[in-house]
Amino acid sequence: MKPRILVTGGTGYIGSHTVVELQQAGYPVVIIDNLSNSNREVIDGIERITGIRPDFVEADCTDMAAVKELFDKYPGIKGIINFAASKAVGESMHKPVLYYRNNLNTLMNLLDIMGERDVKGIVFSSSCTVYGEPDVNPVTEASPIKKATSPYGNTKQISEEIITDVINAGAPFKSVILRYFNPVGAHPSAEIGELPNGVPQNLIPFLTQTAMGIRKELSVFGDDYNTPDGSCIRDYIDVVDLAKAHVIAVERMLTDKSEEKIEIFNLGTGNGLSVLQLINEFETATGVKVPHKIVGRRAGDIEKVWANPEHANNVLGWTAATPIADTMRSAWAWQCKLRERGIM
Ligand code: UD1
Repeated sequence: MKPRILVTGGTGYIGSHTVVELQQAGYPVVIIDNLSNSNREVIDGIERITGIRPDFVEADCTDMAAVKELFDKYPGIKGIINFAASKAVGESMHKPVLYYRNNLNTLMNLLDIMGERDVKGIVFSSSCTVYGEPDVNPVTEASPIKKATSPYGNTKQISEEIITDVINAGAPFKSVILRYFNPVGAHPSAEIGELPNGVPQNLIPFLTQTAMGIRKELSVFGDDYNTPDGSCIRDYIDVVDLAKAHVIAVERMLTDKSEEKIEIFNLGTGNGLSVLQLINEFETATGVKVPHKIVGRRAGDIEKVWANPEHANNVLGWTAATPIADTMRSAWAWQCKLRERGIM
């Protein structure tokens, strides 16, 4: 029997896909989530895919008493994957304290309890946002960290520093820090996917809602960037590929595969796609048109960033294998499922 893994934020977008992969790899999972940006029906979706209902504790990780209670109830937890965090860049500009409190207190509570309860490692959800506007693409893990342009981005940088300081101070556990590029798509079963509250801020949910007719048209933020077609370039990675990397990272820490106490990996495909190219990929893959218009730039956007994923490819034996067309089809199938269920 494999040891139990605690997944914080496990009913969220990336968290739920990771719970599926963990369960399919034989790990028992307990989720802690305050449902601030997700709902409990996600657990039904996970159960429909895997045949296993993960244990679920509705609580906030910033509440240390609740975290302790969870560890009392599930004493065998050996690994943590920390997804629990606020993640909207724009909102963080207006509510910085909320972001610092949620994201940093959650992490510090987890690091404290890990030392007390013999947890072997923590996987941390970081972001390519730490590279800011890179001088050179693709970015490697050694590319310079730029000053954060939002409180959200700053919480990712500070979190990486906190983990590093705690481990360098001799904490008895390991950490794998994963810097995600742009996670998109949904589980191919269409049982789970991304479900943002209100008007989506991110490209793919806005795009699929527009394709469905929920939004009139997609605004493409800028066509005057220094890129081949003038729109911004990102590295769009399939969420299931991303989820699989977490299972490898957990396994690596639990089996002491590496001597290193902290490891950092970029998780991306290595291919940059522009906004206009992505719209085209979606339309070609699904046969569904996306009404769109060019508007002005969005404040704070990075012009272009994509990953050099060789470190993850070579060391983890992991690649982002899903073709973008399949990812676009899974995103669309999920949107259609939401419509079928009368949710969106
Ligand atoms: C950013 C952060 C990422 C963070 C994420 C959370 C960077 C490089 N990335 O991703 O770390 O996790 O926010 O929200 O800082 N776009 C449109 N129209 C839309 C929506 C988006 O044209 O309606 C464009 C954006 O200008 C951008 C691309 O689509 O070029 C992707 O945008 P989005 O999905 O919001 O993600 P990022 O801003 O790249």
